[in-house]
Amino acid sequence: MLCISAETLKSRFLADMDDGTPDEVFADLKPKNLGGWGVAQIAAGTGLAVYAMWVGILQPGFRKVPLRLQVPYIPASKAQVENVMMLLRGRAGGLTDLGSGDGRIVLTAHQRGFTPAVGYELNPWLVRLARYHAWRAGHLGKVSYLREDLWKVNLTECKNVTVFLAPSVLSLLQEKLLAELPDDALVVAGRFPFPDWTPSRTEGQGVDRAWAYSMKELRGCSQKNDE
Ligand SMILES: C[S@@+](CC[C@H](N)C(=O)[O-])C[C@H]1O[C@@H](n2cnc3c(N)ncnc32)[C@H](O)[C@@H]1O
Repeated sequence: MLCISAETLKSRFLADMDDGTPDEVFADLKPKNLGGWGVAQIAAGTGLAVYAMWVGILQPGFRKVPLRLQVPYIPASKAQVENVMMLLRGRAGGLTDLGSGDGRIVLTAHQRGFTPAVGYELNPWLVRLARYHAWRAGHLGKVSYLREDLWKVNLTECKNVTVFLAPSVLSLLQEKLLAELPDDALVVAGRFPFPDWTPSRTEGQGVDRAWAYSMKELRGCSQKNDE
Protein backbone atom coordinates (compact mmCIF):
# COMPACT_ATOMS: atom_id res chain seq x y z
CA MET A 1 0.00 0.00 0.00
CA LEU A 2 1.34 3.48 -0.86
CA CYS A 3 1.04 5.87 2.12
CA ILE A 4 2.09 9.50 1.74
CA SER A 5 0.84 12.56 3.63
CA ALA A 6 -0.71 15.60 1.92
CA GLU A 7 2.11 17.82 3.27
CA THR A 8 4.80 15.60 1.80
CA LEU A 9 2.95 15.43 -1.47
CA LYS A 10 2.70 19.23 -1.63
CA SER A 11 6.37 19.85 -0.78
CA ARG A 12 7.56 17.18 -3.26
CA PHE A 13 5.31 18.67 -5.92
CA LEU A 14 6.62 22.26 -5.41
CA ALA A 15 10.26 21.17 -5.19
CA ASP A 16 10.03 19.05 -8.33
CA MET A 17 8.20 21.68 -10.39
CA ASP A 18 11.64 23.10 -11.30
CA ASP A 19 12.78 19.74 -12.68
CA GLY A 20 9.75 18.55 -14.63
CA THR A 21 6.04 18.76 -15.46
CA PRO A 22 3.32 17.79 -12.89
CA ASP A 23 2.73 14.56 -14.87
CA GLU A 24 6.36 13.56 -14.44
CA VAL A 25 6.19 14.39 -10.74
CA PHE A 26 3.06 12.24 -10.22
CA ALA A 27 4.56 9.43 -12.31
CA ASP A 28 7.40 9.38 -9.76
CA LEU A 29 4.91 8.87 -6.94
CA LYS A 30 3.07 5.88 -8.55
CA PRO A 31 3.80 2.42 -7.04
CA LYS A 32 6.50 0.67 -9.06
CA ASN A 33 5.81 -2.63 -10.89
CA LEU A 34 7.09 -5.63 -8.93
CA GLY A 35 9.05 -7.06 -11.86
CA GLY A 36 10.22 -10.67 -12.30
CA TRP A 37 12.58 -10.64 -9.31
CA GLY A 38 9.90 -9.30 -6.93
CA VAL A 39 7.41 -11.95 -8.08
CA ALA A 40 10.06 -14.66 -7.64
CA GLN A 41 10.78 -13.44 -4.08
CA ILE A 42 7.08 -13.48 -3.15
CA ALA A 43 6.65 -16.97 -4.68
CA ALA A 44 9.68 -18.30 -2.78
CA GLY A 45 8.46 -16.75 0.49
CA THR A 46 4.96 -18.22 0.06
CA GLY A 47 6.41 -21.63 -0.80
CA LEU A 48 8.59 -21.57 2.30
CA ALA A 49 5.65 -20.56 4.51
CA VAL A 50 3.47 -23.37 3.12
CA TYR A 51 6.29 -25.90 3.60
CA ALA A 52 6.90 -24.71 7.18
CA MET A 53 3.16 -25.06 7.91
CA TRP A 54 3.12 -28.57 6.38
CA VAL A 55 6.15 -29.78 8.35
CA GLY A 56 5.39 -27.96 11.59
CA ILE A 57 1.62 -28.16 11.93
CA LEU A 58 0.09 -30.69 9.55
CA GLN A 59 2.64 -33.52 9.41
CA PRO A 60 4.52 -33.75 12.74
CA GLY A 61 4.57 -37.30 14.06
CA PHE A 62 4.92 -38.75 10.56
CA ARG A 63 8.72 -38.78 10.38
CA LYS A 64 8.87 -42.54 10.96
CA VAL A 65 5.98 -43.33 8.58
CA PRO A 66 7.07 -44.20 5.01
CA LEU A 67 6.05 -41.51 2.50
CA ARG A 68 3.66 -43.84 0.61
CA LEU A 69 1.71 -44.45 3.85
CA GLN A 70 1.35 -40.79 4.78
CA VAL A 71 -2.18 -39.48 4.42
CA PRO A 72 -2.85 -35.74 4.66
CA TYR A 73 -5.50 -34.33 6.95
CA ILE A 74 -8.69 -33.66 4.99
CA PRO A 75 -11.65 -33.54 7.37
CA ALA A 76 -14.88 -35.31 6.46
CA SER A 77 -17.73 -33.03 5.38
CA LYS A 78 -21.04 -32.98 7.28
CA ALA A 79 -22.62 -35.07 4.50
CA GLN A 80 -19.80 -37.63 4.71
CA VAL A 81 -20.17 -37.94 8.48
CA GLU A 82 -23.94 -38.38 8.09
CA ASN A 83 -23.48 -41.09 5.44
CA VAL A 84 -21.09 -42.95 7.74
CA MET A 85 -23.63 -42.71 10.57
CA MET A 86 -26.42 -44.00 8.29
CA LEU A 87 -24.35 -47.10 7.52
CA LEU A 88 -23.71 -47.63 11.24
CA ARG A 89 -27.42 -47.42 12.13
CA GLY A 90 -28.62 -50.36 14.19
CA ARG A 91 -25.09 -51.19 15.31
CA ALA A 92 -23.98 -51.08 18.94
CA GLY A 93 -20.77 -51.21 20.97
CA GLY A 94 -17.62 -49.24 20.44
CA LEU A 95 -16.35 -47.31 17.43
CA THR A 96 -12.76 -46.84 16.30
CA ASP A 97 -11.73 -44.17 13.78
CA LEU A 98 -8.33 -44.94 12.22
CA GLY A 99 -6.73 -41.55 11.49
CA SER A 100 -9.22 -39.48 13.46
CA GLY A 101 -8.10 -35.97 12.41
CA ASP A 102 -9.98 -33.32 14.40
CA GLY A 103 -12.15 -36.03 15.95
CA ARG A 104 -15.48 -35.24 14.28
CA ILE A 105 -16.42 -38.86 13.47
CA VAL A 106 -15.56 -40.08 16.97
CA LEU A 107 -17.50 -37.24 18.59
CA THR A 108 -20.58 -37.79 16.42
CA ALA A 109 -20.41 -41.55 17.03
CA HIS A 110 -20.31 -40.96 20.79
CA GLN A 111 -23.31 -38.62 20.50
CA ARG A 112 -25.17 -41.41 18.62
CA GLY A 113 -24.52 -43.92 21.41
CA PHE A 114 -21.28 -45.72 20.46
CA THR A 115 -19.22 -46.51 23.57
CA PRO A 116 -16.25 -46.43 23.81
CA ALA A 117 -15.61 -44.06 20.88
CA VAL A 118 -11.89 -43.94 20.16
CA GLY A 119 -9.78 -42.11 17.57
CA TYR A 120 -6.17 -42.93 16.68
CA GLU A 121 -4.22 -40.06 15.18
CA LEU A 122 -0.47 -39.46 14.69
CA ASN A 123 -0.55 -35.68 14.41
CA PRO A 124 -0.35 -34.25 17.97
CA TRP A 125 -1.94 -30.93 16.94
CA LEU A 126 -4.98 -32.75 15.62
CA VAL A 127 -5.21 -34.84 18.80
CA ARG A 128 -5.26 -31.58 20.81
CA LEU A 129 -7.81 -30.04 18.44
CA ALA A 130 -10.04 -33.11 18.76
CA ARG A 131 -9.89 -32.92 22.57
CA TYR A 132 -10.73 -29.22 22.39
CA HIS A 133 -13.79 -29.96 20.23
CA ALA A 134 -14.86 -32.66 22.68
CA TRP A 135 -14.43 -30.23 25.58
CA ARG A 136 -16.48 -27.57 23.79
CA ALA A 137 -19.23 -30.10 23.11
CA GLY A 138 -19.20 -31.14 26.80
CA HIS A 139 -17.94 -34.67 26.09
CA LEU A 140 -14.31 -34.47 27.20
CA GLY A 141 -13.46 -37.63 29.12
CA LYS A 142 -16.22 -39.56 27.37
CA VAL A 143 -14.36 -39.90 24.05
CA SER A 144 -10.71 -40.93 23.58
CA TYR A 145 -8.22 -39.45 21.16
CA LEU A 146 -4.93 -41.31 21.26
CA ARG A 147 -1.73 -40.27 19.55
CA GLU A 148 -0.85 -43.61 17.97
CA ASP A 149 0.16 -45.04 14.64
CA LEU A 150 -2.89 -46.87 13.27
CA TRP A 151 -0.65 -49.64 11.92
CA LYS A 152 0.38 -50.54 15.48
CA VAL A 153 -3.11 -50.58 17.00
CA ASN A 154 -4.52 -53.97 18.02
CA LEU A 155 -7.96 -54.20 16.38
CA THR A 156 -9.06 -57.59 17.68
CA GLU A 157 -11.74 -56.07 19.97
CA CYS A 158 -13.12 -53.49 17.50
CA LYS A 159 -16.69 -53.95 16.26
CA ASN A 160 -17.19 -50.74 14.29
CA VAL A 161 -14.28 -49.22 12.40
CA THR A 162 -14.25 -46.07 10.26
CA VAL A 163 -11.51 -44.99 7.84
CA PHE A 164 -11.08 -41.91 5.66
CA LEU A 165 -7.73 -42.73 4.08
CA ALA A 166 -5.99 -42.72 0.70
CA PRO A 167 -6.33 -45.63 -1.81
CA SER A 168 -2.60 -46.48 -1.54
CA VAL A 169 -3.09 -47.09 2.20
CA LEU A 170 -6.42 -48.89 1.91
CA SER A 171 -4.99 -51.78 -0.11
CA LEU A 172 -2.50 -52.50 2.69
CA LEU A 173 -5.02 -51.86 5.45
CA GLN A 174 -7.31 -54.57 4.00
CA GLU A 175 -4.81 -57.20 5.12
CA LYS A 176 -4.56 -55.85 8.68
CA LEU A 177 -8.34 -55.61 9.06
CA LEU A 178 -8.90 -59.12 7.69
CA ALA A 179 -6.25 -60.53 10.00
CA GLU A 180 -7.43 -58.81 13.20
CA LEU A 181 -11.11 -57.83 13.20
CA PRO A 182 -13.76 -60.17 14.66
CA ASP A 183 -16.38 -61.70 12.35
CA ASP A 184 -19.16 -59.39 13.56
CA ALA A 185 -17.17 -56.23 12.80
CA LEU A 186 -18.34 -53.63 10.29
CA VAL A 187 -15.85 -51.38 8.49
CA VAL A 188 -17.06 -48.10 6.98
CA ALA A 189 -14.84 -46.29 4.48
CA GLY A 190 -15.38 -42.71 3.36
CA ARG A 191 -14.19 -40.87 0.25
CA PHE A 192 -12.44 -43.99 -1.22
CA PRO A 193 -13.63 -47.63 -1.17
CA PHE A 194 -11.38 -50.59 -0.36
CA PRO A 195 -9.94 -51.63 -3.73
CA ASP A 196 -10.51 -55.42 -3.47
CA TRP A 197 -13.60 -55.68 -1.28
CA THR A 198 -17.28 -55.81 -2.22
CA PRO A 199 -19.35 -53.52 0.04
CA SER A 200 -22.49 -54.85 1.71
CA ARG A 201 -24.07 -51.38 1.51
CA THR A 202 -23.25 -47.87 0.30
CA GLU A 203 -24.70 -44.49 1.19
CA GLY A 204 -24.53 -41.12 -0.62
CA GLN A 205 -23.16 -40.11 -3.99
CA GLY A 206 -19.95 -38.68 -5.45
CA VAL A 207 -17.35 -37.42 -2.99
CA ASP A 208 -19.78 -37.89 -0.09
CA ARG A 209 -20.21 -41.60 -0.71
CA ALA A 210 -19.44 -44.11 2.06
CA TRP A 211 -19.03 -47.91 1.83
CA ALA A 212 -19.84 -50.48 4.53
CA TYR A 213 -18.08 -53.87 4.67
CA SER A 214 -19.19 -56.78 6.82
CA MET A 215 -16.22 -58.89 7.90
CA LYS A 216 -18.39 -62.01 7.98
CA GLU A 217 -19.46 -61.50 4.35
CA LEU A 218 -15.92 -60.74 3.22
CA ARG A 219 -14.55 -63.85 4.90
CA GLY A 220 -17.43 -65.92 3.49
CA CYS A 221 -16.58 -64.70 -0.01
CA SER A 222 -12.88 -65.40 0.32
CA GLN A 223 -13.65 -68.92 1.68
CA LYS A 224 -15.97 -69.61 -1.29
CA ASN A 225 -13.26 -68.39 -3.66
CA ASP A 226 -10.72 -70.72 -1.99
CA GLU A 227 -12.97 -73.80 -2.44
C1 LIG B 1 -8.24 -37.79 5.47
S1 LIG B 1 -7.91 -37.46 7.20
C2 LIG B 1 -9.44 -38.03 7.93
C3 LIG B 1 -9.68 -37.40 9.30
C4 LIG B 1 -10.98 -37.84 9.99
N1 LIG B 1 -11.10 -39.29 10.08
C5 LIG B 1 -12.19 -37.27 9.28
O1 LIG B 1 -12.82 -38.05 8.54
O2 LIG B 1 -12.48 -36.09 9.41
C6 LIG B 1 -6.76 -38.79 7.56
C7 LIG B 1 -6.13 -38.65 8.93
O3 LIG B 1 -5.37 -39.82 9.18
C8 LIG B 1 -4.21 -39.45 9.91
N2 LIG B 1 -3.23 -40.51 9.72
C9 LIG B 1 -2.60 -40.84 8.57
N3 LIG B 1 -1.77 -41.89 8.76
C10 LIG B 1 -1.88 -42.22 10.07
C11 LIG B 1 -1.27 -43.23 10.88
N4 LIG B 1 -0.37 -44.06 10.37
N5 LIG B 1 -1.64 -43.32 12.17
C12 LIG B 1 -2.55 -42.46 12.70
N6 LIG B 1 -3.15 -41.48 11.99
C13 LIG B 1 -2.82 -41.36 10.69
C14 LIG B 1 -3.83 -38.10 9.30
O4 LIG B 1 -3.03 -37.33 10.17
C15 LIG B 1 -5.19 -37.47 9.06
O5 LIG B 1 -5.58 -36.69 10.14
